Amino acid sequence: MNRMTLQEKIGQMVQIERTVASPQVMKNYFIGSVLSGGGSSPGVNASAQEWIKMVNQFQRDALSTRLGIPMIYGIDSVHGHSTVYNATIFPHNIGLGATRDPELVKRIGAATALEARATGIPYLFAPCVAVCRDPRWGRCYESYSEDPEVVSSMTEIVTGLQGDIPSTSPKGVPYVGGKTKVAACAKHYVGDGGTVNGINENNTILSRHGLLSIHMPGYSASIIKGVSTVMVSYSSWNGDKMHGNRDLITGFLKGTLRFRGFVITDWEGLDRMTSPRHANYSNSILRGINAGIDMIMVPMKYKEFIDDLNQLVTNHEIPMSRIDDAVRRVLRVKFTMGLFENPLADETLVNHLGSHEHRELAREAVRKSLVLLKNTNSMLPLPKKGSKILVAGAHADNLGYQCGGWTIQWQGQSGNNATVGTTIMDAIMNTVDKQSSQVVYQENPDTKYLQSEGFSYAIVVVGELPYAETEGNNMNLTIPEPGPTMIKNVCRAVKCVVVVVSGRPVVIEPYLKWIDGLVAAWLPGTEGQGVADVLFGNYGFSGKLSRTWFRSVDQLPMNVGDEHYDPLFPFGFGLTTEPTDDSN
Ligand code: BGC
Ligand code: BGC
Repeated sequence: MNRMTLQEKIGQMVQIERTVASPQVMKNYFIGSVLSGGGSSPGVNASAQEWIKMVNQFQRDALSTRLGIPMIYGIDSVHGHSTVYNATIFPHNIGLGATRDPELVKRIGAATALEARATGIPYLFAPCVAVCRDPRWGRCYESYSEDPEVVSSMTEIVTGLQGDIPSTSPKGVPYVGGKTKVAACAKHYVGDGGTVNGINENNTILSRHGLLSIHMPGYSASIIKGVSTVMVSYSSWNGDKMHGNRDLITGFLKGTLRFRGFVITDWEGLDRMTSPRHANYSNSILRGINAGIDMIMVPMKYKEFIDDLNQLVTNHEIPMSRIDDAVRRVLRVKFTMGLFENPLADETLVNHLGSHEHRELAREAVRKSLVLLKNTNSMLPLPKKGSKILVAGAHADNLGYQCGGWTIQWQGQSGNNATVGTTIMDAIMNTVDKQSSQVVYQENPDTKYLQSEGFSYAIVVVGELPYAETEGNNMNLTIPEPGPTMIKNVCRAVKCVVVVVSGRPVVIEPYLKWIDGLVAAWLPGTEGQGVADVLFGNYGFSGKLSRTWFRSVDQLPMNVGDEHYDPLFPFGFGLTTEPTDDSN
């Protein structure tokens, strides 16, 4: 650090988006970090090799500067390496919460780290340790649970992503165990899941005790496990923007919790400290950096940011000691993870991307994430033999829908071509006895058809359409049509199982009377086979609700432990079934 100029130090604090990065920009501004924003890839269906080529090029640019400090490339791999074509897509966090299996989640972390490294990427903006207290929040599915204890237990993923911290490591020091591991990021600090009415990026109104006991445990747990970075939340706490909260960032996180990694802003986090955005930007930079933020996900207008920060330091409004603290933290993470020794991708890892082993792991996670909510006359597990089976609903044969947001694209997508995987429909076909059973898929069958065909039973797969962040805020939480009408039509005509594909509990009580079997499948990801494995009894149901399932939205917010608690299905609920042998 003694050898670094102010320009070089500021560069270490800057993270830019790959679309504005170029050899000139990397070199002229000594850029310390590059990211892929949601859906930002080097090309449609880009291969691991193409990702490596891009990341390595930025790295070579960084290494060609005077001091040759490597840049660190970051991406949102929030349910597997989810921006990359052919990656294994695991269930979103809400489903992992339902497994109550931290050891499984650790293995998922290790697999995700390998897939990221397969594309040359060493830094992931995960895990999201939000404690979602209101399912109307558009990011509810990114939260493991409404319960801080479940969220804390799931921070085991940090040890999967980064490796197990040595027992001698002092508390708060970041740890990354080498070339097959990645730097993780606990986000979004703090209280992102507690905003009023679940409005994204809004205000969390809560006592200090409430904030510390509900929203902080996930950070304490992550820090004990050596998490390398923490991302600040767009949201406010009692009216104050978290990006300017010196007491919680410098005081609590770096002081009380002794966090020694680096603190990063959210995307345009400094811009969003004002309304309208980017008004009085220089002042937001001043507040954010003096609050204790170390790296700034600028990510587009880097020139303005660098000029403004330079001014603020030259004018002594930001002390040099603060810049040094930031740079020391960024370099500490880069040194710890071995980026100086191994700045370039290890091309021998490419075959880990979407490997069979990882897909089997995702399938296991899907099986364990399913929550059985109703099972009249033990309808489930379903017979594989001798049945005429109707499969209905748009979500039955739509890989994009079953993966949800943050999959290939930021907002997710519809259809089966965006990446590689098994739809629930494919999975059903693979599982039933081909000799004696017949499966018919009708996306939206009409009543006449239903009555004339003599089906043994129906599997109706309905749910939410993909979304991410603010686009997912939803004040009514109804299943979009034709879902509800189809449940009614099919389930009144045929014995039926309804599989709900959603990022959160949705309105279901009005239809419950017609439904024989009800399964919450959350957003299972690419391995739809896991759904059929359990529906047909190869494995039993074991998942437990990681959230309270409300009766009607006017009850919200309603969380386990509340004084007035009258849910449709309580937190922790989940019926179980035993696996059956293959003869049924
Ligand atoms: C980016 C995302 C980012 C979002 C923030 C999008 O344009 O692609 O990465 O999370 O903006 O609003
Ligand atoms: C999201 C973050 C994400 C970042 C980068 C933001 O909009 O809030 O969770 O890591 O974009 O894509």
